[in-house]
Amino acid sequence: MKYIVVLPAAGSGKRMNAGYNKLFLELRGKPILIHTLDVFEQDPNCLAIWLAVKPDERKTIQDMLKQYNITKVKGMPAGGDERQHSVYACILAAGDVSELILVHDAARPFIEPSVITQLTHKAHEMGAAIAGVKAKDTMKRVRNQIIEETLDREQLWMIQTPQAFRANILTIAHQQAAKDGFLGTDESMLVERMNIAVHVVESTYDNVKMTTQEDLLIGEAILQKRQ
Ligand code: CTP
Ligand code: MG
Repeated sequence: MKYIVVLPAAGSGKRMNAGYNKLFLELRGKPILIHTLDVFEQDPNCLAIWLAVKPDERKTIQDMLKQYNITKVKGMPAGGDERQHSVYACILAAGDVSELILVHDAARPFIEPSVITQLTHKAHEMGAAIAGVKAKDTMKRVRNQIIEETLDREQLWMIQTPQAFRANILTIAHQQAAKDGFLGTDESMLVERMNIAVHVVESTYDNVKMTTQEDLLIGEAILQKRQ
């Protein structure tokens, strides 16, 4: 299933505490951003990559793309203050080029190609499909440090990206969210509020988001395991 991918990369990586965009940090000598881009560069079904960037980082990223032979990036629109704004900027810039759009955090370099394939098939068939894994821990709802409820773990999934959609669904969901001033933490939330069913595809625990310093150690371990 052919698709285009939108990669928000315009964050500031505050929780990583690197003093600069965490996506420039290296794992095994290669920037996190390039690890992620390589997955899509190498997937023959990926037609184009749209990257949301901070304008003052555009030149650095352009140089990196050249250095690492990344050829599929078709545009680098300016990201916004929130991740959702960065994604929307890419959707608008991409226009009507593909029937399927994947949105994937640039900070998740370990996504498995087989999960991408499953997501695109499911989204083509059903309209919307997102990656997730089953919760491992017992989950409780807590208020003021006191348990309110133990949740049924069988029903709880930890949601990741990629999130795949038919292009018209994703576009309308973003338009509506912008109109309503609704801010979600993922694309699925925007689609859910349109009362469209979103399907979950089981992903892997490797697909971690490089968020804090300890994630870098996990990242190095995953690369070692895969070697
Ligand atoms: N992102 C973006 N535009 C923003 C915020 C985030 O494009 N305004 C991107 C990040 O670059 C990252 C992805 O969205 O690839 C997921 O966000 P997150 O992991 O939260 O990254 P940061 O926002 O950079 O990190 P932090 O929240 O710790 O500052
Ligand atoms: Mg963030």
